[in-house]
Amino acid sequence: MKALIAFVAALALVAANSPTPVGKVVCYYDSRSYVRESQARMLPMDLDPALSFCTHLMYGYAGVHPDTYKMVPLNENLDVDRTHANYRAITNFKGKYPALKPMLSVGGDVDTEDPQKYNLLLESPQARTTFVNSAVLLAEQHGFDGIDLAWQFPKTKPKKIRSTWGSIWHGIKKTFATTPVDDKETEHREGFTALVREMKQALSLKPNMQLSVTILPNVNASIYIDVPAIINHVDFVNLETFDYSTPQRNPKEADYTAPIYTPQNRNELLNSNAAVNYFTQAGAPTYKIIVGIATFGRTWALDSDSEIAGVPPIHANGPGEAGPYTKTEGLLSYPEVCAKLINPNHQKGMRPHLRKVTDPSKRFGTYAFRVPDDNGEGGLWVSYEDPDTAGQKAAFVKSRGLGGISIVDLSMDDFRGLCTSDKYPILRAAKYRL
Ligand SMILES: *[C@@H]1O[C@H](CO)[C@@H](O)[C@H](O)[C@H]1NC(C)=O
Repeated sequence: MKALIAFVAALALVAANSPTPVGKVVCYYDSRSYVRESQARMLPMDLDPALSFCTHLMYGYAGVHPDTYKMVPLNENLDVDRTHANYRAITNFKGKYPALKPMLSVGGDVDTEDPQKYNLLLESPQARTTFVNSAVLLAEQHGFDGIDLAWQFPKTKPKKIRSTWGSIWHGIKKTFATTPVDDKETEHREGFTALVREMKQALSLKPNMQLSVTILPNVNASIYIDVPAIINHVDFVNLETFDYSTPQRNPKEADYTAPIYTPQNRNELLNSNAAVNYFTQAGAPTYKIIVGIATFGRTWALDSDSEIAGVPPIHANGPGEAGPYTKTEGLLSYPEVCAKLINPNHQKGMRPHLRKVTDPSKRFGTYAFRVPDDNGEGGLWVSYEDPDTAGQKAAFVKSRGLGGISIVDLSMDDFRGLCTSDKYPILRAAKYRL
């Protein structure tokens, strides 16, 4: 009898864990790409070649009004005004791709004005009601099929990755009381649970509106996400398991930014596998877990103190110089990285190309670097995702029986097909391995 009950329970578990035979491919679209220059300028029509691979299209990003707590377009002119009307341009893709679910994502670390509002909103039931009602209205008015909460929680403090004096340093650190990043952690955790519940309630009154949560990089889910309390209210949770180390957070030490598993001597919580484990151990069904794949690299400048072998973690001297298109220190889109891996005909006046170092274990990711010249200049170290590593992440997702992958974001994948002739090579590679 006991065996029978166990057998039936196991069957029920299998059923609960596999309602979708096809993995989700959640594609993020960062609308800031509309105003980038030349090759990097992406218009909504440039999304078309990607969309037969995507199950969801996240419009990034809406924001929170700092005074009213309403959910609002972050760029009225671009998002909703008649001349551009990007919200509509995106949701109109449903005509050509009927299975595609366009959703409106809020936050995403893009809504930087008055960041404290994300905490304050969670503390006030009234503000939450205003936010929920305005969000549902905004999404509905523009034809979105759901809302994604890419909530801007306080970030964890950056940790020193490793040093020769690692254990001694660790000992010293322990003797100081660490100040918490957020002295209202519990209140914010409970407020977010309430927000998710209230949002679900409002969305369930509309036909076919989905709700998802995106855990942004360096947000500690074990502090803010009460998995058992929210998981039944959301369609999926997208874990942005990248940017574990960035040149802004760790300017003096470059390292793998998005390992699947823990590299030797690193913090065991800072990788995709650990992020997934937190959710599964807290009872989330695996099919609701989506793992994020970044389409960009993080770069650091190397100087004459950096070890010439290039092996991470490696001494660095702040962010690497901005890319020609993304124009942001410490950041390169995939096509920008790929252009640096070749120097056609060894053109004079150009820096030597970067040497790519792949990871035969398929666990930690790829990096590329060049040591500084004799004047100590031009050194660069970049950790990035390429089609091979994106495929490895998708294979990880598949082997764990998870719900799918997300691509963050389409505008930094090679949407023009400049590296090889394929457009969206990272998206494609990941999709094929899923
Ligand atoms: C996240 O929070 C938990 C609980 O407070 C803590 O044990 C863990 O070290 C934190 N993780 C990181 C990466 O800071």
